[in-house]
Amino acid sequence: MICVYVACVCLAAGFTLSSSLRMEERDVDCKRCSRTDADRDRAPTGPEWPPECPRIGLDKHGLVPVMNVTWMIKADMSISTLRGSQINVVEDRTNQSVCVQFSFSTNHTLSPDCNRWTFSLDDVVVEPGHKYTLTVFNLPEPRIGHYRISRNIAIPGCDDARIQKAQICLENGSLWEPNMSVTVLTDKEPKKLSVIVGFETAKHSERYQVAIQSEDFLHSRDIFKENRTSLNVTFDLDLWQLSQCEMFIAIKPFFLRCKNNCWGPKTPVDYCLYLRPRTAIVKTAVVLIFTGCCLAYLLWRTCHTKDPLTLSSPAIKEQPAVIQIQERRRVLIIYSCDHPLYKHIVLKLCAFLAAKCGTEVILDRLDSARLGVLGSIQWLECHREQIERSSDKILILCSPGVQAKWRAMCGDKPVFLREDVLSPVGDMLTPSLSLMVPHFIQCPTFQKYIVAYFDDVCSEEDVPSPFKIAVRYKLMKQFEEVFFRILDAEKHEPGRVKQIEGVSEDRYTESPSGRALQKAIEAFQTYQLEHPRWFEDELVEGLDGDVEETSPAACNHSITVTDQTTCCVQSSVPVTRSVKSQPEMFQMYREVT
Ligand SMILES: *[C@@H]1O[C@H](CO)[C@@H](O)[C@H](O)[C@H]1NC(C)=O
Ligand SMILES: *[C@@H]1O[C@H](CO)[C@@H](O)[C@H](O)[C@H]1NC(C)=O
Ligand SMILES: *[C@@H]1O[C@H](CO)[C@@H](O)[C@H](O)[C@H]1NC(C)=O
Ligand SMILES: *[C@@H]1O[C@H](CO)[C@@H](O)[C@H](O)[C@H]1NC(C)=O
Ligand SMILES: *[C@@H]1O[C@H](CO)[C@@H](O)[C@H](O)[C@H]1NC(C)=O
Ligand SMILES: *[C@@H]1O[C@H](CO)[C@@H](O)[C@H](O)[C@H]1NC(C)=O
Ligand SMILES: *[C@@H]1O[C@H](CO)[C@@H](O)[C@H](O)[C@H]1NC(C)=O
Ligand SMILES: *[C@@H]1O[C@H](CO)[C@@H](O)[C@H](O)[C@H]1NC(C)=O
Repeated sequence: MICVYVACVCLAAGFTLSSSLRMEERDVDCKRCSRTDADRDRAPTGPEWPPECPRIGLDKHGLVPVMNVTWMIKADMSISTLRGSQINVVEDRTNQSVCVQFSFSTNHTLSPDCNRWTFSLDDVVVEPGHKYTLTVFNLPEPRIGHYRISRNIAIPGCDDARIQKAQICLENGSLWEPNMSVTVLTDKEPKKLSVIVGFETAKHSERYQVAIQSEDFLHSRDIFKENRTSLNVTFDLDLWQLSQCEMFIAIKPFFLRCKNNCWGPKTPVDYCLYLRPRTAIVKTAVVLIFTGCCLAYLLWRTCHTKDPLTLSSPAIKEQPAVIQIQERRRVLIIYSCDHPLYKHIVLKLCAFLAAKCGTEVILDRLDSARLGVLGSIQWLECHREQIERSSDKILILCSPGVQAKWRAMCGDKPVFLREDVLSPVGDMLTPSLSLMVPHFIQCPTFQKYIVAYFDDVCSEEDVPSPFKIAVRYKLMKQFEEVFFRILDAEKHEPGRVKQIEGVSEDRYTESPSGRALQKAIEAFQTYQLEHPRWFEDELVEGLDGDVEETSPAACNHSITVTDQTTCCVQSSVPVTRSVKSQPEMFQMYREVT
């Protein structure tokens, strides 16, 4: 297995790559680089970000903050046209940038260990608190349009645990724990007061300025560390000087980087406490009374708090105000995995149903072990029968994929969605539809089925014709109605309207699971706006219903470089090495000589 990387650096000054990746810095125009490939009519699709990208941390010497940028290749048919990837990293404030090209090609959609091909650019040196824009795209780029993906990254400041041990942060005092202590002595001399300030020193600050201040005076003293790990500074004050009880004590360090703008601790001291013990007694009494009031209030609240999982009917006084939900309901969710972001919405809906509504959710992706043992048809049939016998429900979430698969069942062109091809379970919707639709149309089971769709990301058109005879609920607008259906309860009863707390459209985001659901919906909505043809893009062509492509036996192969002269020839460094494929990361280069 041979890999070659071709790297080019644009506007090189000040921006370094990993110490392990030694490159000559040249001014090379990256745009020109990426335009020299021959067959751009058949362009590969774009790369994707893994969930956690980039990873921010320290380089292997633990000295400088770095980020590892990782991207994944979509496992689709266009991979045979793929000739490489290019990544651009731009510092937002100065426009300094680095771009690196990876050159490779393969005929296999998955890596030898059956994961998606994943590449990473490691140890890109970054500055704490700066912002960067990452852009990745596959080569060759299409003649029209592009499949570039971009991400804006804000590197955290030195207070972030991942980078606070970096040299630049240590030299800015990021790990300094001053552990300041203040001792007030009143009995050394009459009419005098001694204030002793003790603190721990830091490695990278030699000088400290300790100050004591009140409205009447300011005394400050410089002290040098001279190899000591802790320092004491004593201030002797005349009592007649002091008109206020409160004084402030501040320590200002002088670290190498922040110089005289460094953070230091500051604390108030009430010296009267040391002079007149009676003041302390009065304060203690006040604290005790306050604590008592708090306790009384808490007790009162506990007696008046409602159970969160309640139905309340505030309209009518004679009715019991609160109805407890008696039994735990189960819901089987039928949906089509149209897109990773849509799958995310479904999973968040499950979490919301479970967390907020106390519902047990049955979802293929959450029961994959049993599904693997039983096979999809048996698994579905087993759940359908259970539901038929009980008061459980089946929630059908309509989306473009549901409509397309239904049409395919009725003789239209077959559809294969990328998510289904990648999933070990495969398409669950088509077997579900063929199993459920006959029962759905029968009257007695009609109550079992709830048809809904997320109207922010799907539409009425996505509801297949057999379900048009049912009420089609819009989520999350009509979630409360859906939940009433799950509970077999009626929202409207003669003389009263019931409500479920915290599930209405404007209230559901108040719970953490509801907020996560809302975020998932918004994320997909944004994606759709940016990619109006997202559904077409998710379709995988020419698979003939054969999902063998992803079976482990079929993906033992290597990545081979075919084209070593793509671009940036003057700065290219061919590397010969074996490619280690790890589940997470796929290192293309380490030591380059
Ligand atoms: C970046 O990648 C290198 C090499 O795989 C690894 O040693 C290092 O821990 C990674 N850094 C972060 C922050 O993940
Ligand atoms: C960075 O580049 C962008 C677009 O090329 C330009 O609009 C912006 O003014 C540049 N900023 C600086 C600081 O050069
Ligand atoms: C991919 O397949 C084509 C045609 O079958 C072949 O010419 C080419 O060498 C293969 N490329 C790799 C990298 O295996
Ligand atoms: C400062 O105090 C904390 C906790 O009180 C302790 O863990 C730490 O070791 C102290 N630091 C030094 C330098 O003594
Ligand atoms: C600090 O300690 C080191 C080694 O213990 C010694 O060589 C050095 O002279 C000391 N410096 C001062 C200023 O005392
Ligand atoms: C600072 O004062 C504390 C208590 O007042 C004492 O234990 C410690 O030894 C003193 N440290 C120095 C460096 O004088
Ligand atoms: C260094 O410290 C100063 C003050 O404590 C702070 O304002 C600044 O952001 C720090 N610099 C970095 C790079 O964190
Ligand atoms: C994959 O290839 C390796 C070495 O080329 C071989 O040892 C292993 O048996 C192969 N695995 C499968 C599942 O074919």
